[in-house]
Amino acid sequence: MNAPALIDTFDRRLSYLRISITDRCNLRCLYCVPDGRLPKLDHEDILTYEELLRLVRICTQMGVTKVRITGGEPLVRKGVYTFLSQLSAIPDLQDLSVTTNGVLLGPNLERLREAGVRRINVSLDTLRRERYREISGYDHFDRVWAGIEKALLLGFHPIKINVVALRGINEDELLEMGRLTFDYPFHVRFIEYMPIGNARMDPAANLLTPEIQERLSVLGDLKAVGRQVNDGPAQRYRIEGAIGELGFISSVSRHFCNRCNRLRLTASGQLRGCLLSDQQTDLRTPLRSGASDAMLANLIREAVRTKKAHHRLAVPTAPKVSDPMSGIGG
Ligand code: 5AD
Ligand code: SF4
Repeated sequence: MNAPALIDTFDRRLSYLRISITDRCNLRCLYCVPDGRLPKLDHEDILTYEELLRLVRICTQMGVTKVRITGGEPLVRKGVYTFLSQLSAIPDLQDLSVTTNGVLLGPNLERLREAGVRRINVSLDTLRRERYREISGYDHFDRVWAGIEKALLLGFHPIKINVVALRGINEDELLEMGRLTFDYPFHVRFIEYMPIGNARMDPAANLLTPEIQERLSVLGDLKAVGRQVNDGPAQRYRIEGAIGELGFISSVSRHFCNRCNRLRLTASGQLRGCLLSDQQTDLRTPLRSGASDAMLANLIREAVRTKKAHHRLAVPTAPKVSDPMSGIGG
């Protein structure tokens, strides 16, 4: 008999868990990494795979059906492919996906597929090699692109391309990125920059969805795509004649909080109801001091109960989110 579903005080049913399995990353993106350096958690502060599997099993008993693995960069963590296979074997987990920067994708796609992963999100903010180096700190554009093309050949679907839209940095490429959907079945998603973790970014770099959509409209009419049950906060569109989709993640300009179905587990075992609030529940300490499954389930339930109605990012006086994105996982 399953435990009651996770429903918060605003009647949102939480079915989607995002797990950051490491705060390490092999890139240093401008909008993510403060001063070009990631604060590193100690190895023992990071949840073990056994601990993660236990928490996921408990969450699926309460109605979580979808898990996304993020980082930092998840593919840098040792043993990740075995962990993904073990996750795939959890009976009630219907949907397992991975968000990666793609640097290690190409050589590992077969292993990902064998582990039961079919859906990947790849972060790619530019199609220009030199600009890629400027944004991410490394000259890895060619290998990321090769990984994406190979993923397509191997049948991964959908392949989502995450583009953080940045004024003065990649704004002149938004059309080119959107045009990819005519040639490839990708879901190209434009993400508003969020001021998180004191990254090296001017808040004025913020480029909001209405302006991005306006610019993309020269490619054709943006037709809304019907929403599906497990859809996240992206608003989805297709342009007439395109084989892929466009998506917009308007974290700043639009409160999608009312249909937010997510919970986040940080690399150090903190459960967060909202990416944009520092409020979190420590699961690592109870995990390591003998808590039963029922006790952990209660803590998760309590975290859900305190999930706020909506975030306050658009409120100028709201406190800044202080943790780096790499540990929360986006
Ligand atoms: N604002 C918006 N998106 C961000 N990402 C990382 N940091 C930020 C930020 N400050 C993106 C990454 C990745 C996704 C998980 O979040 O590019 O695609
Ligand atoms: Fe790494 Fe992603 Fe942060 Fe870039 S945005 S530094 S790829 S964790």
